Amino acid sequence: MPRMTKSSGRVVASKKPLRICLTSSEFAPFAKAGGLADVSAALSAYLHSAGHDVRVLLPRYARIDSMGLDIEPVESLQDLQMRIGDQEVHYAIDTVTVPGTDLRIFLLRCPQFFGRESIYTQDDDEHVRFTLLSRAAIEMCQQMGFAPHIFSCHDWQTGMIPLYLRTTYARDKLFAETRSVFTIHNIGYQGVFPAHVLGQLGVDGAEQHLHQDDLNAGVINFLKTAIMYADLVTTVSPTYAREILGDEYGMGMNDLLRERASTLVGILNGVDYDEWDPAVDTLLPANYSASDMSGKATCKSVLQRELGLQEEADTPLVGIVSRLAGQKGFDLVEKVVPRMLTERHFSFVVLGSGEPQLESFFAWLQHHFKGRVCFYKGYNNELAHLIEAGSDMFLMPSRYEPCGLNQMYSLRYGTVPVVRETGGLADSVQHYDPTTGSGTGVVFRDYDEQGLEWALNTALDLYDSKSHWQKMVANGMAMDYSWEQQGAEYVELFRTASESPYEHRMPGSRNNE
Ligand code: ADP
Ligand code: GLC
Repeated sequence: MPRMTKSSGRVVASKKPLRICLTSSEFAPFAKAGGLADVSAALSAYLHSAGHDVRVLLPRYARIDSMGLDIEPVESLQDLQMRIGDQEVHYAIDTVTVPGTDLRIFLLRCPQFFGRESIYTQDDDEHVRFTLLSRAAIEMCQQMGFAPHIFSCHDWQTGMIPLYLRTTYARDKLFAETRSVFTIHNIGYQGVFPAHVLGQLGVDGAEQHLHQDDLNAGVINFLKTAIMYADLVTTVSPTYAREILGDEYGMGMNDLLRERASTLVGILNGVDYDEWDPAVDTLLPANYSASDMSGKATCKSVLQRELGLQEEADTPLVGIVSRLAGQKGFDLVEKVVPRMLTERHFSFVVLGSGEPQLESFFAWLQHHFKGRVCFYKGYNNELAHLIEAGSDMFLMPSRYEPCGLNQMYSLRYGTVPVVRETGGLADSVQHYDPTTGSGTGVVFRDYDEQGLEWALNTALDLYDSKSHWQKMVANGMAMDYSWEQQGAEYVELFRTASESPYEHRMPGSRNNE
């Protein structure tokens, strides 16, 4: 087990900088469906600013072309091709600077696969899209003569990289010292495809290396393959790292993860406080900080006015910004919030989109409680910032939550998180104790109606008791989840991985040569 110690500050100069190839299907602000985008971008920016050589590959999705960016082709990486099954795929690599940084990342240009409306699709060739991304990342390193210490892979879309490094690309001496670190952001999305796609994956000797029970059942699971072959597996909070070892949260991966428990590490995500801090947030109508909260009241009244909510400074406002997915605990909200809206005085704002049945529920709620509930269907970054600032409480009753970012944003915005005790929510919010005045939010344990009802009632009662409320808000605003801390943990882990012996010996891989 790599020893994880809490280190502070940046990489010390005496240690050699690392070479890292980071591949992800999302990267803010270019392509974002959820927190993965924030984390890939912030982690890369941290590694770069700490002096490491980080090369990122992201698909050039159609939406990136409409952003008016200065994208340049990389001269030596044009007219590339790759055989995927019986197709000859043509692609090229471009480069763009990440706004607000001097980090340049690489974009995989292949309109045939990425010139589509959304980042993820239900199309039949979804596995080909991300096979191309994964192999192109490795081949990009080959073409650049870049020998990474670490391939940092994120979620199932890049889950085949660890296996490629042990098979198809195992004989390339460039990768002799390379180790793979696979980060699970969400075990609920595994990339499961029918076994007949095998020939399109480009894995040498694929059949013997993939999970045999899955193949017998007629499927290939990208996430499982990553867990089998990555040198180290990480996930995005210590509590989630423990939870996924069990039946309830493991989603079929628990046995395999238990076998690899000594190489599984949980590192809490960090927050990019350049983006998410009310003192400097350029998307807010007024800025504020712990020493002068007056701007928060302005944000609240602007939010209420813009969304057609009754403009009442003292009515507690509960906010949600989320993908509308089962994971997020909305079945509890459906059962509890309508009743509570009739019993207690508060208003409610929801920004999100996703499952149609949840969208209908929130549309109904808005209609039924006019002036007290607003549902904004869609994706809107500016409104997300305003909700963080203008709300008094932020609700995340998740069934499971690998990390969650909004509760950490909420803390900094003086917006009290009301969360279920799971995953990263448990690791970043401490339940407020009125007897000691310690704690930063309201935390409930059991995933049931009583749990959520208790939490909302507790939060509303505390709101009425101004001294407790102010103390809890101040405690939250003082928390620091910056990447300065969390990024240093990744660096330590990457170092440990790069110095570790190659663990899983496989027939035909370089280990046996
Ligand atoms: P997940 O990755 O599971 O969706 P996280 O809490 O890690 O959850 O990250 C969600 C990120 O996406 C946050 O930055 C949040 O502000 C943002 N987000 C989610 N839904 C929306 C939306 N409808 N509009 C704007 N931002 C959103
Ligand atoms: C996932 C998780 C979320 C996490 C994010 C970034 O989508 O659902 O909890 O914060 O990835 O790691």
